[in-house]
Amino acid sequence: MYDHCIISEINTLRKKKNVVILAHYYQRPEVQEIADFVGDSLQLSEQAAATDASIIVFAGVHFMAETAKILSPAKKVLLPDLNAGCSLAESCRPADFRRFIAAHPEHTVISYVNTSAEIKAMTDICCTSSNALKIVESLPVGEKIIFGPDRNLGNYIKTITGREDMQVWDGACHVHEAFSVERLAELKQQRPAAKVVAHPECKKAVLLLADFIGSTAALLHFTQYDKASQYIVVTEPGVIFQMQKASPQKEFIPLPVVTAPSSAFADDCGACNDCQFMKLITLEKIHRALQTEQPEIFVEETIREKAERSIRRMLERSK
Ligand code: 13P
Ligand code: SF4
Repeated sequence: MYDHCIISEINTLRKKKNVVILAHYYQRPEVQEIADFVGDSLQLSEQAAATDASIIVFAGVHFMAETAKILSPAKKVLLPDLNAGCSLAESCRPADFRRFIAAHPEHTVISYVNTSAEIKAMTDICCTSSNALKIVESLPVGEKIIFGPDRNLGNYIKTITGREDMQVWDGACHVHEAFSVERLAELKQQRPAAKVVAHPECKKAVLLLADFIGSTAALLHFTQYDKASQYIVVTEPGVIFQMQKASPQKEFIPLPVVTAPSSAFADDCGACNDCQFMKLITLEKIHRALQTEQPEIFVEETIREKAERSIRRMLERSK
C-alpha cells in the first residue's frame, strides 16, 4: 500500500477509535509526521499521563509504552512492534539491580526511565536525560544516591554536581557508546565552523568536545535558537528531522560511526547510527496496530503501582 493510502486509513482509524499517537524524536521521519505529539522521553511521559484518548499508540520503544501504561492503566496502550526494546534497559536486569541496591543500603535510588517496569518499581525517583540534574539536585547534599542504569549520564551528572556519594550502575546504550572521540575530533577539524551538540548518554571523552549537552528536546531547542549555522549532531540521527524542520537554513551533520565487526549491532546500518529498535516502528505496523488493537502492553498491578510512584515523583519534581 502506498504511504498516502496508509496515512488516510490511519487517520480514519485514529479518529474512529479516539487514539493518540505519541512518537519519540528517534522515530522515522514519516512516523514523526503522522504523530499527534513528537517529543523526548520526559515530554512523552507527560503526554501519556495527561491524554484523554482511549488508546495510546506508542511510536517508540518498549519502556516508553510501558511507562504510558503505568501512568494510564485504564487506557489501551499499543506498541506496534514488541521487538522494539532498548539495549540500555537490557543492561539493567532486575535480579542484578536488586543485589546492587542491597549492597548499598540507605541510598536513594534514582533510575533513568530507560528501564523495565520492574526496575522502576525498585526505584525511589525516576528521571530522564532532560531532568536528571534537577532530580539529583532536589535531594539534600550528602544524601547517598544510586543512579542507574546509564553510566555516561550518571557520571556526567556526578561531575557537574560534585556529588561524591553517587553509586553509578554500569549500563550503557549501544547507540551512544558507538560514537568515537577520534572520529568526532576528525570531523571537527574538517568542519571548524560547526558546533557540536551531544546527548549525555555519550562517553565522557565525546562530551568533553561538545559545545552543548542535553536531551533530544534540549538539543533541538539549542540548535533552533543558537546563532551558528552548522552543527555536528552526536545522538541518534532521527532528531535531525525536527532540527532541519525548525531551522531549514542550517546544516546538520550526523556523526558517522565505525561499528566493531564483532558487535551484535554491526548490520546493514553501515556508517549511520540509527537505533535499530526505534526504527522497527513503521507506518504499516502502526496501521496494523490500529486495525487489530494489538500488540497491547500490560504491566502486573503490584509492579505498576510501585513503578507509578517513582514516575509521579519525577513528574512532580520536573515542574
Ligand atoms: P531523551 O528522549 O530523554 O533525550 O533520551 C534519549 C533516548 O535514548 C531515548 O531512548
Ligand atoms: Fe535505548 Fe539507546 Fe535506542 Fe534510546 S537510543 S531506545 S537508549 S538503545
